[in-house]
Amino acid sequence: MYSRFAPAAEKLGVSEHRAELLRGVNGKVLEVGAGSGLNFAYYPPTVSEVVAIEPEPHLRARAAQAAVRAPVKVTVMDGMDSELPFNDAAFDVVVASLMLCSVPDQRASLAEMHRVLRAGGELRFYEHVVAQQPGIVIIQKVADIFWPHVGAGCHTSRDTLGAIEDAGFSVSSVRRFQFQPCLMCIPASPHIIGMATKDPPELLH
Ligand SMILES: C[S@@+](CC[C@H](N)C(=O)[O-])C[C@H]1O[C@@H](n2cnc3c(N)ncnc32)[C@H](O)[C@@H]1O
Repeated sequence: MYSRFAPAAEKLGVSEHRAELLRGVNGKVLEVGAGSGLNFAYYPPTVSEVVAIEPEPHLRARAAQAAVRAPVKVTVMDGMDSELPFNDAAFDVVVASLMLCSVPDQRASLAEMHRVLRAGGELRFYEHVVAQQPGIVIIQKVADIFWPHVGAGCHTSRDTLGAIEDAGFSVSSVRRFQFQPCLMCIPASPHIIGMATKDPPELLH
């Protein structure tokens, strides 16, 4: 379903969000839950290599095709967020785009992203999140009774920005905006896009 419906959302604005997400990224990048590889076209030449993890076979095959057309070197691998097959501090940048809504355990996912990122490295994030208006949060919590069952585990009421901070990242920039690419997408319309850094050990407390 995702690979079928994503192209329409790209035309409505997601492609611009991807360009914003990846502007200025450099070094060795890990993208977790890369889907069909829709971010790959937006990696700038300052990126030396992208390693893209995707557990779902159909999406992973699409991502492998997108990797061939990518402007930078992209290696697509099978894998899960909760057990990333990499050493500590192996990456300069970790990218999470529209996936922290779907993972079974956000805390475990972000702990792994934090582990594989070098001190001073960046987490780039683009996610739909819990609303700031209590009335909309109620709608999101009701939606979350059925939404994960029809949306491959996707939840609409997650406080993903709070979870990023709780995982030990310092948020250095965040833009909140509403984006609703379809009529049914109201509960998933509050979005965040931005970056957070893994503090060097001397700054951790
Ligand atoms: C809505 S899609 C987004 C795909 C892609 N990141 C993008 O921006 O187009 C959610 C992705 O998260 C992946 N995902 C879900 N649970 C995951 C997990 N536990 N570990 C890694 N990826 C996961 C799905 O397979 C899917 O590719």
